[in-house]
Amino acid sequence: MIPAVLPTYNRAPMAFVKGEGSWLTTDDGARYLDLGAGIAVNALGHAHPALVQALTDQAAQLWHVSNLYRIPQQEALAQKLVDATFADTVFFTNSGTEAAELAIKMARKYWYERGTPRGEIIAFEGAFHGRSTGAIAAAGSEKMVKGFGPLMPGFRQLPFGDHDALRAAITTDTCAVIIEPVQGEGGIRVLPDACLKGLRDLCDETGTLLIFDEVQCGMGRTGRLFAHEWAGVTPDIMMVAKGIGGGFPLGAVLATESAAAGMVAGTHGSTYGGNPLGCAVGGAVMDIVGDDAFLAEVARKGALFRQGLEGLVATHPQVFEAVRGTGLMLGLKCRASNADVVKAGYAQHLLTVAAADNVLRLLPALNIPDADIAEALARLDRAASALEKVTGDAA
Ligand SMILES: Cc1ncc(COP(=O)(O)O)c(C=O)c1O
Repeated sequence: MIPAVLPTYNRAPMAFVKGEGSWLTTDDGARYLDLGAGIAVNALGHAHPALVQALTDQAAQLWHVSNLYRIPQQEALAQKLVDATFADTVFFTNSGTEAAELAIKMARKYWYERGTPRGEIIAFEGAFHGRSTGAIAAAGSEKMVKGFGPLMPGFRQLPFGDHDALRAAITTDTCAVIIEPVQGEGGIRVLPDACLKGLRDLCDETGTLLIFDEVQCGMGRTGRLFAHEWAGVTPDIMMVAKGIGGGFPLGAVLATESAAAGMVAGTHGSTYGGNPLGCAVGGAVMDIVGDDAFLAEVARKGALFRQGLEGLVATHPQVFEAVRGTGLMLGLKCRASNADVVKAGYAQHLLTVAAADNVLRLLPALNIPDADIAEALARLDRAASALEKVTGDAA
């Protein structure tokens, strides 16, 4: 019999009832160290006092009014994002997938308004932009699209980081290029700065719009507010979600005035997007994560964690192959099955997340204490030893 909850996930058996910082407690009182942070969502850990305060203060005042009226919390958060980034304007969504949908619509509308419609959007192998019909067509992987055809037309996938393939693929019908500066689901694959720069140049040469999907790698995850800042280039349109709400469902599309020119009244909307609750929390997240000293700490913690992980790769070559990633968006390319490593982590009360390419994702809260990083390394070490013992016993 089908369960009451549609079974689209292979869920682990734990049920968490409370969270504090980097720790989660199950319904039977066991504590787990959380290196998944809701898949890069709980940017400030669980139950951060400033976020709880922002949410409860707003909840006592006003939850929802619809976008038929001005929403001051939305205006304030949009202004913070505009002040901190390349963007001139922001539309709020409830998720990354919805941000992808608007980014695609905005890019196509841009060309339509110029009187030279262009349809094709180029994406990359290993990409993940969400689960809507548009987002799965953009990413195009067999795993995501199988059985859901006919797919939305107008997307094409190229190998990640292959500049020559991209140069050859861009035509007068190319509307936009969409890329994650650091692929998350694809296995923590960092696009080198030189590639991002080359991509920007190519888009400038051909007039193609450049869309960055920073849903997973943005909001401080790499030690800058947005990952593309490391390369010193900016997109025309950017998708944001996950960390921006710190756990409250919130996403955004940021754009330059020129890229957004076609999105006039009536062209897009959302009942809940930009609601007072989400934007109040988002504002509190921005106040903390947008601070340079906070971001420098993320980079320092990332380097500390990475150093420890390199040590684990050296100690457990049968289990781990290499460290990937940047800041606190880290991955361990595994030799053992990454699913087995995730399970071995559960046995040590440690939560990690599997990604494609047999990678184990480590996406802790951006404010994870150094002591918790040391504890995470100790638990990963024990998990790897346990796996080696099982393999050794079987041999
Ligand atoms: C890079 C990227 N884009 C888009 C999405 C979709 O976001 P959401 O699950 O909030 O719809 C995700 C989610 O994992 C993501 O990692």
